[in-house]
Amino acid sequence: MNLRLLAAVLALVVPLGACDGGGGGSPAAATTKLGFLVKQPEEPWFQLEWAFADKAQAELGFTLVKIGVPDGEKTLSAIDNLAAQGAAGFVICTPDVRLGPAIAAKARSHKMKLIAVDDRFLGADGQPMQDVHYLGISARAIGEDVGRALAAEAQRRGWKNEELGVCVVTYDELDTARERTDGARAALRAAGVPDARVFLAPEKAPEIPAALDATNALLSQHADVKQWLVCGMNDNSVLGAVRALEGRGFDADHVIAIGINGTDCIEELRKAKPTGFYGSMLLSAREHGHRTISMLHAWCKDGVEPPLDTRTTGILITRSNFEQVLAEQGVTR
Ligand code: GLA
Repeated sequence: MNLRLLAAVLALVVPLGACDGGGGGSPAAATTKLGFLVKQPEEPWFQLEWAFADKAQAELGFTLVKIGVPDGEKTLSAIDNLAAQGAAGFVICTPDVRLGPAIAAKARSHKMKLIAVDDRFLGADGQPMQDVHYLGISARAIGEDVGRALAAEAQRRGWKNEELGVCVVTYDELDTARERTDGARAALRAAGVPDARVFLAPEKAPEIPAALDATNALLSQHADVKQWLVCGMNDNSVLGAVRALEGRGFDADHVIAIGINGTDCIEELRKAKPTGFYGSMLLSAREHGHRTISMLHAWCKDGVEPPLDTRTTGILITRSNFEQVLAEQGVTR
């Protein structure tokens, strides 16, 4: 190859390959490329996170690459793929928090910056990786709000402790899930619901079918319960329980179920005939999608390091206010 040809080839290739990636020097004109990886791209919560990240992309002018990563293998190859495209960093909700050390090592090896969203990485010692930047919900406090709202509505309806049962759909493998359901249980206890009326339904995955199976197994053991309160780690976990209860004849007058996310229950709340799904704690998909990727952008582009630990709050939505609150929060139009 003669020198002139080599120069021409380099002029084409170098800006694409080396512009933003891996900590290499970025030419001022090049746009930063950033990844956003999520574990369950089919869940409305994650679709909204992506939609808000898209908005940040339009406002800030970086290039966003969205990849669904349902398992460990796909996660690690997606990171290699991002690096090969010259991405400077990524936001990730990992499919398994125990992949934390492997994901962090891979990011380091590619000199990419990383922010974990929603599900916090666990280190080899089983403890949260506090050196990995994280944005997630105030899980315990949001769970407590669920418990308080369940107790308040049961009291308003005049339900007696000895006739009701609390179905707690648990997913203890995930810290943010366990903190939510522990918070709900603590608030119910504080509101006077005896522990003896609280029953656990461990689900194998935070998905409707798994929650339905777990709740069905629980219901066959508690035929004496007349009214049910339901909580769980997110809307789908609670929706699965509501479907199982419907299968046994428990309708909106005999079930008070409150989810978390507020984004995966919109069709449910819009149903003309109310179901047992009473409401949800609406989380901020905007904070989780827009804010995370904007922080990553500022970090990669201008060296502004984000806080190590950021927590977000929730708002109770019910059939009476959800359309208004969802529109105010930019979830619906
Ligand atoms: C977890 C859940 C999601 C959502 C987020 C919020 O990732 O699986 O449904 O609740 O937390 O941070």
